[in-house]
Amino acid sequence: SPRVLSGIQPTADSFHLGNYLGAVRQYVAMQEGYDAFYCVVDLHAITVDYQPEALRRRSRIAAAQLFAAGLDPERSTVFVQSHVREHTELAWVLICLTGMGEAGRMTQFKDKSAKSGESSAGVGLFTYPILQAADILLYQANRVPVGADQKQHLELTRDLAQRFNHRFGETFTLPEPHIVKGVEKITDLQEPTAKMSKSSSSAAGILDLLEQPGPLRKKVMRAVTDAGSEILADDENKPGVTNLLRIQSALSGTPIPELEARYAGQGYGTFKKDVAELVVETFTPIRERTEKLLANEADLDRMLAVGAARARTVAASTMAQVRDRVGFLPSL
Ligand code: TYM
Repeated sequence: SPRVLSGIQPTADSFHLGNYLGAVRQYVAMQEGYDAFYCVVDLHAITVDYQPEALRRRSRIAAAQLFAAGLDPERSTVFVQSHVREHTELAWVLICLTGMGEAGRMTQFKDKSAKSGESSAGVGLFTYPILQAADILLYQANRVPVGADQKQHLELTRDLAQRFNHRFGETFTLPEPHIVKGVEKITDLQEPTAKMSKSSSSAAGILDLLEQPGPLRKKVMRAVTDAGSEILADDENKPGVTNLLRIQSALSGTPIPELEARYAGQGYGTFKKDVAELVVETFTPIRERTEKLLANEADLDRMLAVGAARARTVAASTMAQVRDRVGFLPSL
């Protein structure tokens, strides 16, 4: 069966609703029909300022949330990126195939380095998308479920795969991004034209998967809505209401026009209350399962060891081919 791979960063103590709808829910769905690989990308997480203890904690929290959200360790290979050395090894080879200008055009790098100040942005941040390409190409992934913000990184990945294949012979599968319309960019509740983001959203703008029902309800009720009182999807004039409609539609499986009809003539109050309940109903069981998994670190670490062993088999086979193709001497 075709292969799927995706990665998620352990850079916060919880995933948020954007991560969940744009990525994690897709991971779970794609266990059907795909040979699935999902990795907690701790190597990516050290491209910005961080604390070692926080990274360790967050890597376990990230893995626990993936299992809690529905990844089945029997069907999916869930692992931690740094456990599979081939990621860094392939990244180096791909770095040597990437142009400075090409890497410099990555908009996420430009945004992140602008924020941290030109001189304090590390070289790791610059090479971040190339490591991401290595993650994907190592597993010969056909599909990569991601949010819209990762589109450019997927284009670079395809370019690098093609470049390698032309120069050294057919080696890598060209991956397709899997970006789901309607959930590809969930926005900040307080700033509904900006992406909901671990690094730039305020606490009031973000709904965390592991948050308690009280604060979740409060944040949805206080979400910025727009002038007027109609509940209609309109990105131009009603980005706040539109974001909430997308969230409700995705969580309930109800098409947006049906929701617009349901709330016709009603104010924002009932609508927001319904969205809040839906968020709480979705998040609560995931939070409870995450807490259970985290209460037994030894078991969680064992699940990740099994994942790493499976991932290594695939990664080692690709890397053996790469070493030979690029002209490295066999190490006897
Ligand atoms: P990260 O951890 O920043 O984000 C994880 C996933 O969540 C998606 N996402 C969103 N989707 C919709 N609306 C939002 N507001 C929102 N915010 C985040 C992201 O698009 C992403 O899919 N570079 C990747 C990590 C990575 C990776 C990989 C992904 C490393 N290696 C290999 C795919 C394949 C990232 O930004 O993760």
